[in-house]
Amino acid sequence: MCGIVGVVGSKNAKNILLNGLHKLEYRGYDSAGIMISSEEGMYVTKTAGRVAELEALVSDREDNGTGIGHTRWATHGEPTENNAHPHLSKSGRYGLVHNGVIENFEWLRETYLSDVKLNGDTDSEIIVEVVDYFSKQGLSTLAAFTKMLQEVKGSYALALIDVTDDSKIYLAKNKSPLLVGLADGYNLVGSDAMAMINETDRFVEIMDGEKIVLTANEMVILNQDNQEITRDFYVAEIDANDTEKGLYPHYMLKEIDEQPAVMRTLVQEYVTPNGESTIDSDIIEEMAKSDRIYIVGCGTSWHAGLVGQKMIEKLTNIPVEVHLASEMGYDMPILSKNPFFIFLTQSGETADSRQVLVKINELNLPTLTITNVKGSTLSREATYTLLLHAGPEIAVASTKAYTSQITVMLFLAKALGEKLGQQKAKELDVVHELGIVASAMESLVADKDHYAALSEKFLLDSRNAFYIGRGLDYAVSLEGALKLKEISYIQAEGFAAGELKHGTIALIEDGTPVVALISNEEMGSHTRGNIKEVESRGAKTLVVALEGLEKETDDIVLPHVHQLVTPLVTVIPLQLLAYYASLQRDLDVDKPRNLAKSVTVE
Ligand code: F6R
Repeated sequence: MCGIVGVVGSKNAKNILLNGLHKLEYRGYDSAGIMISSEEGMYVTKTAGRVAELEALVSDREDNGTGIGHTRWATHGEPTENNAHPHLSKSGRYGLVHNGVIENFEWLRETYLSDVKLNGDTDSEIIVEVVDYFSKQGLSTLAAFTKMLQEVKGSYALALIDVTDDSKIYLAKNKSPLLVGLADGYNLVGSDAMAMINETDRFVEIMDGEKIVLTANEMVILNQDNQEITRDFYVAEIDANDTEKGLYPHYMLKEIDEQPAVMRTLVQEYVTPNGESTIDSDIIEEMAKSDRIYIVGCGTSWHAGLVGQKMIEKLTNIPVEVHLASEMGYDMPILSKNPFFIFLTQSGETADSRQVLVKINELNLPTLTITNVKGSTLSREATYTLLLHAGPEIAVASTKAYTSQITVMLFLAKALGEKLGQQKAKELDVVHELGIVASAMESLVADKDHYAALSEKFLLDSRNAFYIGRGLDYAVSLEGALKLKEISYIQAEGFAAGELKHGTIALIEDGTPVVALISNEEMGSHTRGNIKEVESRGAKTLVVALEGLEKETDDIVLPHVHQLVTPLVTVIPLQLLAYYASLQRDLDVDKPRNLAKSVTVE
């Protein structure tokens, strides 16, 4: 989704902004722009293309130290140069970048801008004109900005520059992420820490409804009542080197390869050398009181939730429901007497999930966010947080965050099950089992040529593909299909293997690829029957089986791991198949079309 970066007071403003925009590319975007102060005034450069194209267009005039930049993911209006941010007001006085969606833009236009001819079709252009309007009524810039915020309805993260005074940037947010970065002698703003990580590791959160006046040496925070408040910075754990691709051709491949190391990190984070859980005992006590656990997420996180559901139910005996946030936000199920909510979100900023969290908070119920981003909105607003410790995930298609989510839920299930005296939980040696998983992952990712060849054989000429499995394999089938479709654009669907014959089998014809997962003996034997059914209708099948359950003709044999953690290894070949399918089609693996890494609008 859209990204913001800004800097005030640095001699290197242009490079900071361009680097920041490069770092924000992973969020997904379709146009980009920057506005920088110079001796001759502000200059704005925009493109309906990539940041690299913007870089080539930016003038090499000496800059004056202040600027704002933006990557846009179109919501209102096409991805054109005109609609790209920053937007300069008609008078030339104000420049603004905006993330989010302004709901009452038509009312604002009719009420304040009936005689202004706008350049483009964005809601964002309207708000910069509204600031200009109030300023022309005689208000100071801060007062005009404040008045605009009082009039606006919707979600926003905003950075505004008054061209007549480039020593300040004005900031505000509501429901869209925005963070201030503190550097030595200059300050920054960004929609996430990644945009500023080359400059600083000290960040200050901005809360909904606040306004900030940012200068080179000061950050003035004004609350909703316009009173000045103070807030400490926190130090981010991100290592700038983690955000580089190194020798890898794509972030996705790097992130797939990092999974064994992430498993080991998680063991260190969640288990003491004596084998005790490090999870805050308040979380476990609160969960132990619950009669039902609700897991909420979107996309890959929802898929991880489906795996977590089975782990938690098996190890704790507490019933678990998994909900799509975009559905639950508008259609709340009947809740149990003592519910406990887990929000799964790698970014911690997903608008759909946040909408549910806001509603659950209104009910005063206990919530836990499991996220990769410390200090993210869903982390701040939930009762508790557990971190994924996966390191930055840059590729839009999630890989290591998915396996980390599953692993954190395993630690949680184990600790909760033990607390509840469940024998299965007591017997499960997670450290040992995850050690085996990490080694299995290592051997799988080492076999890349095999997946490249399988992808060429099964997927290169395909327009569609099906993924089937039962139980945990069904949950992973959904994830495997999502990975393939989002980066290769092959229409791929995951199915419970037994469901095929109830309709979908009508789509199977000569050469249709069907990927079948077998990691459980009993359910796998039934999936074998489903494989025969599709093969006899012409499907070409690619069978992934756990060691011990394999047949000679199977294409991928997974090293043996504990039944409960099979998704952590079954998914690896599917991630690699998707990666090579995208590569072999010459597509942008890390930045697939129409998608965003951090989905901050509904
Ligand atoms: C797909 C993917 C998405 C996200 C979804 C939720 O590879 O990454 O499906 O899982 O947009 O995002 P988070 O986890 O940040 O809430």
